[in-house]
Amino acid sequence: MEQEMEKKLVTMAREARKNAYAPYSGYFVGAAVLTTDGDIYTGCNVENASYGLTNCAERTAIFKAVSEGARKLRAIAIAGPEDGNPPYPCGACRQVLSEFAESGEMPVFVTTGADVYQTYQLKELLPYSFNL
Ligand code: THU
Repeated sequence: MEQEMEKKLVTMAREARKNAYAPYSGYFVGAAVLTTDGDIYTGCNVENASYGLTNCAERTAIFKAVSEGARKLRAIAIAGPEDGNPPYPCGACRQVLSEFAESGEMPVFVTTGADVYQTYQLKELLPYSFNL
């Protein structure tokens, strides 16, 4: 994947983070997924007073893509705070990513600072994934 596209995804994830609804944790997250068709869908975390109903930014973006007809994801960027814990995807989001990832090599870009992100492959974040 070209670096230009990586940066675009990260920028769009950062932009989506501005819409995060996180009054309970105060931890704001944005995500952007790139489909194999070249489309990009963004999402943010959406919390609830009933804490367990919270939806992570990654799943918001993925569900938006799938609900618009996209089925295969090529990459995802996840943006968190400029300083603080990086927004590594939670276990539930890793499993949902694996459902729609084009392959286990799918890149996952995780911001680790204001202008920096680390790249992982889905299969290193979720080895021995369950699929039918
Ligand atoms: N969260 C995400 O949206 N994505 C991640 O990768 C990590 C966690 C959200 C869920 C919750 O709203 C807040 O961050 C704190 O867990």
